[in-house]
Amino acid sequence: MKKKALTLAKLHGTPLFIIDHEKIRRNYRIFKKNLPRVQAYYAVKANPNQEIISTLFDEGASFDVASYNEFMQVYTHIRHFGEKDKDFYIWDKIIFSNTVKHRDTLKKIRRYKPLVTYDNADELEKIKEHCDTAGVVLRLKVPDVGSQVELSSKFGAEPADARTLIDQAFDLGLVVEGLSFHVGSQCTVFDNFTAALEIVSQVFHDARKRGHNLNIVDIGGGFPVPYDSQVPQFENLAKVINAELARHFPQDAEIIAEPGRFIVATAAVLVSQIVGKARRDGKIFYYINDGVYHTFSGVVYDHWTPNFRALSPRSHRAKAGATEVCAVVGPTCDSFDKISLSEQLPADLRIGDYLYTENIGAYSIASSTRFNGFEGAKVLSVNKRTRKKP
Ligand SMILES: Cc1ncc(COP(=O)(O)O)c(C=O)c1O
Repeated sequence: MKKKALTLAKLHGTPLFIIDHEKIRRNYRIFKKNLPRVQAYYAVKANPNQEIISTLFDEGASFDVASYNEFMQVYTHIRHFGEKDKDFYIWDKIIFSNTVKHRDTLKKIRRYKPLVTYDNADELEKIKEHCDTAGVVLRLKVPDVGSQVELSSKFGAEPADARTLIDQAFDLGLVVEGLSFHVGSQCTVFDNFTAALEIVSQVFHDARKRGHNLNIVDIGGGFPVPYDSQVPQFENLAKVINAELARHFPQDAEIIAEPGRFIVATAAVLVSQIVGKARRDGKIFYYINDGVYHTFSGVVYDHWTPNFRALSPRSHRAKAGATEVCAVVGPTCDSFDKISLSEQLPADLRIGDYLYTENIGAYSIASSTRFNGFEGAKVLSVNKRTRKKP
């Protein structure tokens, strides 16, 4: 990919964010193959690029959306369906996973009879008032120890409150379809999944015993990406999850998941270029044409550690000069815009040289801004398939 990426960068300019759709298809298939019982709802938040949604739609994926706009990005693909097929698609293949939704959003999605999550009583009242056609899924708080991004401090009902929240929903005339959780993104501690499934199974069986026929178990996201050799393998996690699902849940339970990072992280690379060079307090600072306000926003929001390789613009090879610890910083007039203060890079890089970053597909362009008038990376898709006309 490196050689091809550099050729494309010379053709299209930099910064260039290259999405490999074959890799997206492969990641989706690996997910499905290893978790055969699980329906995969791609979490659009990880990378909302419309072409990624199209590729996954063509693969038969389902979608996890957080907002009306994300919903409409998926809806575009089913707009031409007949009313019945459209209703079925929305019910079967889309979940609103944001546990707190704006009233206006609820009003707008009411006509689609959506599946939505909740984790508190006020949200239930809101759903009842503005979107009483919805099926609801109760999100529970679970351990997220060691995950790169924790979520449990903001989302999830305490398991001890689950009974009350389920009863409140039914009392309001809503139907609780199931339960969900999220162990935190880039979860490398498998025990988080084991503990979460244990917690959820207790609530699930308790509800069924009390006559509420819950069906859905949504195991969320968190599936780890091999950013480095320390990350435990997804295939091994899948074995643990499959065993726990078989142990805890009857065959008629519908198991779904919301993978985001796993589908897209390894499917994109970024080619950036050095635009300035200075020595500050003895350290080389490479100024590049992308930064934390742009494609490297994941360094801030996703607690992501980026990787850089210097490419020679002439030979397509990695530059091989003597290396030292350098800083790589963004182009804006903000000293916060530092991507990394400790990159082992050749000391002799020059303005115009290229840097290559792998595994940058998740939580990168998703949260890029236009701060300081910098547009952010140009996005280019490769290995797309020609789409059939609807
Ligand atoms: C509700 C919800 N579902 C799914 C995801 C996707 O998680 P991941 O990218 O770890 O697979 C997130 C991301 O944080 C989320 O908040």
